[in-house]
Amino acid sequence: MCGIVGFIGHGNVQEVLVNGLEKLEYRGYDSAGIYVAEEKGKGHLFKEVGRIAALKEIVDFELPATVGVGHTRWATHGAASQQNAHPHQSSSTRFSLVHNGVIENYQQLQAEYLSDVVLRSETDTEIVVALIEHFSKTEDLSTKDAFKRTLEVIEGSYALGLVDVENPTVLYAAKNKSPLLIGRGEGFNVIASDAMATIDVTSEYVEIKDKELITLTQDAVIIENFAGETVERSSYVAEIDASDLDKGAYPFYMLKEVDEQPAVLRRLLQNYQGDDQQFAFEADMMKTLLASDRVYIVACGTSYNAGWIGRSLFEKLAKIPTEVHLASEFAYDLPLLSEKPFFVFLTQSGETADSRQALVKVNELNYPSLTITNVKGSTLSREASFTLLLHAGPEIAVASTKAYTAQITLMAMLADALRAAKGFEASFDMERELSLVASIMESILAEKAEIKAWIDANLMETRNAFYIGRTLDYYVSMEAALKLKEISYIQTEAFAAGELKHGTIALIEEGTPVIALVSEETVGAHTRGNVEEVKARGANAIVISMQDVAREGDTFVIPKVETALSPLVMVVVTQLLAYYTALGRGLDVDKPRNLAKSVTVE
Ligand code: F6R
Repeated sequence: MCGIVGFIGHGNVQEVLVNGLEKLEYRGYDSAGIYVAEEKGKGHLFKEVGRIAALKEIVDFELPATVGVGHTRWATHGAASQQNAHPHQSSSTRFSLVHNGVIENYQQLQAEYLSDVVLRSETDTEIVVALIEHFSKTEDLSTKDAFKRTLEVIEGSYALGLVDVENPTVLYAAKNKSPLLIGRGEGFNVIASDAMATIDVTSEYVEIKDKELITLTQDAVIIENFAGETVERSSYVAEIDASDLDKGAYPFYMLKEVDEQPAVLRRLLQNYQGDDQQFAFEADMMKTLLASDRVYIVACGTSYNAGWIGRSLFEKLAKIPTEVHLASEFAYDLPLLSEKPFFVFLTQSGETADSRQALVKVNELNYPSLTITNVKGSTLSREASFTLLLHAGPEIAVASTKAYTAQITLMAMLADALRAAKGFEASFDMERELSLVASIMESILAEKAEIKAWIDANLMETRNAFYIGRTLDYYVSMEAALKLKEISYIQTEAFAAGELKHGTIALIEEGTPVIALVSEETVGAHTRGNVEEVKARGANAIVISMQDVAREGDTFVIPKVETALSPLVMVVVTQLLAYYTALGRGLDVDKPRNLAKSVTVE
């Protein structure tokens, strides 16, 4: 959802900005731009539609700039065009601004303050930079005060970086709801949407809280609240291994991340291993969870799909009633809550605005919450009562894969720990079964050539497809369908297999691919019945099954794992199906159209 980066001080400003934007490209890639200013007060704006690679072509890296801001865009207001690309400038071009977020009252502000200003773009951001100029002129305010005055009237979400060409020794920043960090260096300071963007220039970061005003010079970082009081905040070291950001010999990050899943699973086992064969979780969190009477899992997209598997694990293993909710709906239509609810926020990025909005609501109600995230220090982890980290390493491909399996693994371990704490007998050895899952994932990953060949013959030409399954297989179908549609653009729906005949079966035509997941005998037998129904109507039926319930003619057979953990292996085949289909269609697997990795607007 747009990435921003800013730099002030000694160094090649353009290089830091463009390199930073390349790392932030996963947040949006419709268009990109940078603005840099030289010490003597000369500014330069470079913007281009499309990827950072296109921007790189037009940037002059030789300019002796001292300050600058950059932006990679995921369009919210206005199409992806050069005019709408950031940075935006005030009419005099004195002020240049980058923005991530949505200004909700921009039309009202335009009518109130800017009726005589001719705007050049269709963005809400241009209103913000125009307002800064407006207040600086009409109220004769310094840049800092004009910025502050603007922050007092804008409503919505924002992370902002501002440069005043008349004073190129200062960089201003502020945030509300959208992520933004300060990075500290020797003779320079930076701002960035996330630490990954600037990790190659500094690993020392300082958190920015909502509604603070940041003034950076090459040697100083000043944080103030809106009352003008200076805030002291210590820095932390971001634990990002720069080599994790490299895709090495892989053509796409998605394939690298799919392949990393067994290692991520083993790392999780190691990180949460306690004494006497129990998984170890913070005592206070366990106590709070055990005292609750219902778990509410709140998430979006792939994380939401993982939530359904989590629900099954919490209910079956720990016998805790559990509900799963879409974050974007949750805050606006709260279910009737139990007496002692406990909220689990599943979020790879820890920055998803819909989930954050729901957490704000939960915090207002004073209920305990846990964020399960891949990003240490992310907004949702800071704002929840407890955090559990996924330790999956940076996930860069827009399509989430290793975060999904890491979330399920972590919830399986947590459910097992809750089971043990409640004194229920284990029906299987979780640690041993998860280790087996890691090995079976590896054996599936060794079958890529077979999967690819099958796709070439079956999925390449289709316009639509279905995934079907029952119970756990249905929940995996939801994720499998999301993966296939988001990167291959094949319209794919997931259906509870038994539900298909209640209407949707009308869509089955000669050759429509219907992929059935069968991991367990009882429900699997019914799913197979549904497969026969679609076959009778011409569907190209494909069955992915688990060894102990496999039948002759099944397309892919996966070695047996404990049923409760079957999603962890079933999903790997579907991830590869999605990957090779998108690859075969010549698509940019890592950056599907219209999407962004970290969705920081509601
Ligand atoms: C799909 C995908 C998205 C995310 C969703 C939530 O492959 O990645 O559906 O799962 O935007 O993101 P997080 O987990 O960061 O809150």
